[in-house]
Amino acid sequence: MPDFLQSATEIAREAGALIAGLSDQPLEINYKRRSDLVTEADRRSEALIIERLRARFPEHAIVAEEGGNHRSSSGYCWYVDPLDGTTNYAHGFPMYCVTMGLAYRGEVIAGVVYDPTRDEMYTAERGAGAFKNNQRLHVSHTEKLSESLVATGFPPFATNHDLNIQFYFRFTMLSHGIRRAGSAALDLCCVATGCFDGFWELKLNPWDKAAGTLLVTEAGGCVSDVHGNPFNLLGDDVFASNGLVHGEMLEVFAEVLAQQAPAKS
Ligand code: IPD
Ligand code: CA
Ligand code: CA
Repeated sequence: MPDFLQSATEIAREAGALIAGLSDQPLEINYKRRSDLVTEADRRSEALIIERLRARFPEHAIVAEEGGNHRSSSGYCWYVDPLDGTTNYAHGFPMYCVTMGLAYRGEVIAGVVYDPTRDEMYTAERGAGAFKNNQRLHVSHTEKLSESLVATGFPPFATNHDLNIQFYFRFTMLSHGIRRAGSAALDLCCVATGCFDGFWELKLNPWDKAAGTLLVTEAGGCVSDVHGNPFNLLGDDVFASNGLVHGEMLEVFAEVLAQQAPAKS
């Protein structure tokens, strides 16, 4: 493979340094929708990433969260989240990252997640493993949900009808606990490293999950949707696990979903 991953790590490191450098400055916060924040750091990081990608890979398409998109028919597409964890960032909670995933004809082939607060670079290439700062990653060996630490997230526009509240309640009762850390890309990295045994979210965009899902599968884990269907990068929901607790967690999703379904007459 050409130097896709090398380029992505260099660009993510540069963008990460930019957002970390801006983190202690008073930044204007704007709202895309209620509770959906965007800061100057999101915009500047995205502008930098797009400029660098355009210079290195002018023939590649780009889909980026803050709208800096480019079309192309090359089959290659970068999914870019210039700052994943914006709400954390805006509140000074150090759990945010830069993430970029490269898909070829719809399949993610390379991805990076860079956490500038810890200087941790997560990388994966299809078929070549997953790494944190060049150390090989492997998912956990936990076999039972009752011994698992799991994680989820909610969209910024969650309502009290959100189905995920029901999942959250059920998994809180059945596991060691749930973490809602506020960066889907880092949550997926935590499945790849083995801190989390499972992670799911119901409404994620492709830029949130492109790199992280590749990290999980390359670390030996399993990725699907919450119904157990094959993972779809362009679909809404994602469920990633160490593989060993996948079936048991799918049963819990199914139970909760069955309770939500209107009773048949
Ligand atoms: C958000 C984070 C959060 C997840 C939300 C995402 P953003 O991304 O990944 O953990 O729960 O669904 O929108 O807006 O900070 O890039
Ligand atoms: Ca995001
Ligand atoms: Ca973002």
